[in-house]
Amino acid sequence: MAFKLLFALLLAGSHLVASQNSTVPSSTIAAASQTSSGSISFVTSVELSVDDLWDLYVGPVSTFSINTTVEPTPIPSSSLIPPPTLYYPPLPTGQQVPLQSRNESWKFPKDFWYGVAGAAYQIEGAVKAEGRGPSVWDVLTHRVTNYVRTNDTGDIADNNYYQYKEDIARIAAIGIKTYSFSLSWSRILPFGSGPVNEQALRHYDDLIDTCLQYGVTPMVTLYHWDTPLFLQNLYGGWLSPRIIPDFTEYARVVFTRWHSKVHYWFTVNEPIVFCNFYPLPTNYFKNTSIPKKQQPYFCGHHVLLSHAAAYHLGKGINSSLSISFKTNGGYKIPLTDSESDAEAVQRAWDFQEGWFAHPTFLTGDYPPRLKEYVETFLTPFTEEQKGQIVNTSDIFAHDAYTSDFIMAPDTGIDACLSNTTHDLYPACYNTTKVYSNGYWAIGPASDPGSPWLNKATDWVPAFLRYMQDTWKPRDGIAIAEFGISEPYESLRSSLASILLDPVRSSYYRDYLSAILIALSEGVNVVGTLAWSIYDNLEWSQGYSVKFGIQYVNLTTQERYFKASAFEYVNMFNIYQEK
Ligand SMILES: *[C@@H]1O[C@H](CO)[C@@H](O)[C@H](O)[C@H]1NC(C)=O
Ligand SMILES: *[C@@H]1O[C@H](CO)[C@@H](O)[C@H](O)[C@H]1NC(C)=O
Ligand SMILES: *[C@@H]1O[C@H](CO)[C@@H](O)[C@H](O)[C@H]1NC(C)=O
Ligand SMILES: *[C@@H]1O[C@H](CO)[C@@H](O)[C@H](O)[C@H]1NC(C)=O
Ligand SMILES: *[C@@H]1O[C@H](CO)[C@@H](O)[C@H](O)[C@H]1NC(C)=O
Ligand SMILES: *[C@@H]1O[C@H](CO)[C@@H](O)[C@H](O)[C@H]1NC(C)=O
Ligand SMILES: *[C@@H]1O[C@H](CO)[C@@H](O)[C@H](O)[C@H]1NC(C)=O
Ligand SMILES: *[C@@H]1O[C@H](CO)[C@@H](O)[C@H](O)[C@H]1NC(C)=O
Ligand SMILES: *[C@@H]1O[C@H](CO)[C@@H](O)[C@H](O)[C@H]1NC(C)=O
Ligand SMILES: *[C@@H]1O[C@H](CO)[C@@H](O)[C@H](O)[C@H]1NC(C)=O
Repeated sequence: MAFKLLFALLLAGSHLVASQNSTVPSSTIAAASQTSSGSISFVTSVELSVDDLWDLYVGPVSTFSINTTVEPTPIPSSSLIPPPTLYYPPLPTGQQVPLQSRNESWKFPKDFWYGVAGAAYQIEGAVKAEGRGPSVWDVLTHRVTNYVRTNDTGDIADNNYYQYKEDIARIAAIGIKTYSFSLSWSRILPFGSGPVNEQALRHYDDLIDTCLQYGVTPMVTLYHWDTPLFLQNLYGGWLSPRIIPDFTEYARVVFTRWHSKVHYWFTVNEPIVFCNFYPLPTNYFKNTSIPKKQQPYFCGHHVLLSHAAAYHLGKGINSSLSISFKTNGGYKIPLTDSESDAEAVQRAWDFQEGWFAHPTFLTGDYPPRLKEYVETFLTPFTEEQKGQIVNTSDIFAHDAYTSDFIMAPDTGIDACLSNTTHDLYPACYNTTKVYSNGYWAIGPASDPGSPWLNKATDWVPAFLRYMQDTWKPRDGIAIAEFGISEPYESLRSSLASILLDPVRSSYYRDYLSAILIALSEGVNVVGTLAWSIYDNLEWSQGYSVKFGIQYVNLTTQERYFKASAFEYVNMFNIYQEK
């Protein structure tokens, strides 16, 4: 009865207060006496445990038969035999054309790092294990009809929570020496703030120690989209400034715990993507009165302040840490040489990369075209806030998968800017993947489940040059995610057909060649992280869209290297200075 009352109040979006005095698994919740309409007064106070949160908002979850940490099985040497030769033009070369010569003017410097990346909710599974609280993604996958096209959840995913030792042993065996993963905020703080879950800290202790044991450099992302559900329902998650102290406290817990073992840190992953998840589906989370089109920018505002606070706190704990944002975008090519397409390109930079890069690398404030819009409803940053935000990304860690042609809206930019109901308002630029003759795509297509992505590696040298010239990152540029979904890979049923992935192999080979060209021309690129360590939950596309350089049989949780894993590593075997 009490839970039912509480449930009704939570749905009504009443203001909830988490006691700072509680320990896992219970938290005292008091519902304040005013509903959003202000008319009726309900007052209650109940103990709400982590299990209650699961029962109320998510329901039963699936588990896998391997449910304790397992030692790695030996990597069979037969799985380390490279794939057969594919045809490639003479230069550059990869393992699949081992006898051909290399371009002697190209090299990756000795300290260039290369690795693979994954993210907590997409790979860990074990969602209710050892005290983890739910995140918004547990609700989105379990409760929101058709939010995930395939109805897949992250309940089991790649079972990485129990099989991480094998995962690290495997990447080390093929020669990958860097592993980038994200922490689950709601494992460490099941309610997002308040009590700390020591079991979760011990899990990540061992994950990090296992990396170090295998000579693999761990790189840690604090937040990869899995907002603790409790904070979403308490105050609207990233829509509220209340997230700033909560994120900062979370950052304090993790920096304090691991600063002596982890050098590279990313605060927040791809804010332009997750801020555009707002508005969230109604009736599953706390309601908000912020207009739909404005919600992403409220989110972005609080992300910038949270990132900046975490950056300074981390540097205060250990000034030698490398701490950066992890952003995303792509190269922007004007569709025609018209003035309006040139202006559309500039709008696209300002509303994508510029949204977070301009404040952190240049001025502490938004780029001009974005500022003009957001200041119609956001309180401008104070001088003090600008001072906090500027210079808070050591490297430009950018997830740069693809490129787009950019053009003005059909009705022109001005007509869009003066029409707040225009489909493209407020950014007021349009994009296409099709060349201006309307016939040719910008590059080979990926899987239909990722229509935003074509292989457009020819543009990468220009993109890297643009990033360096525009934002001048102090410690260089890292491609913090790149990869491609092999077209129709999920339709393949035999292992042999799955493992030979020529589109992905040539993507990595050509992308890395493009980086080599940029390096030879003086652009300071410092590292790359392939997305992804293996196939995983591709958010709203479920497991149907595959980005892994390893295949995972989700029935058995066995892992297999794809051909692209060899191509990726061998570009470094061939071109990196020893
Ligand atoms: C939340 O907002 C939506 C639309 O703004 C509205 O339809 C719904 O009734 C609201 N729910 C509650 C519980 O207030
Ligand atoms: C905090 O918890 C302790 C131990 O359970 C209890 O004695 C104390 O009264 C609590 N304080 C508040 C403010 O609830
Ligand atoms: C773990 O898996 C075994 C089967 O492998 C099962 O018997 C047991 O109940 C599971 N434990 C938990 C906590 O899920
Ligand atoms: C997902 O679940 C919904 C609701 O139960 C159902 O209508 C839909 O057909 C399911 N989709 C798939 C791909 O199974
Ligand atoms: C600070 O971090 C570096 C890694 O970036 C580590 O080597 C060093 O030991 C840390 N300093 C202290 C005092 O722990
Ligand atoms: C940002 O850092 C650069 C060099 O690292 C320095 O020249 C510049 O003055 C800093 N800007 C501010 C506003 O602190
Ligand atoms: C945007 O571009 C697409 C083609 O990519 C086109 O179909 C659409 O009409 C354009 N929309 C506007 C508002 O310009
Ligand atoms: C504003 O944009 C909407 C949506 O595209 C359109 O229906 C409407 O006609 C436009 N209004 C004006 C004044 O152009
Ligand atoms: C995955 O494992 C199951 C169970 O062993 C097996 O039937 C299936 O063929 C495997 N799939 C592939 C692609 O190897
Ligand atoms: C080798 O690389 C240089 C510098 O990027 C380039 O100018 C040259 O054309 C390349 N040579 C071949 C044969 O591709």
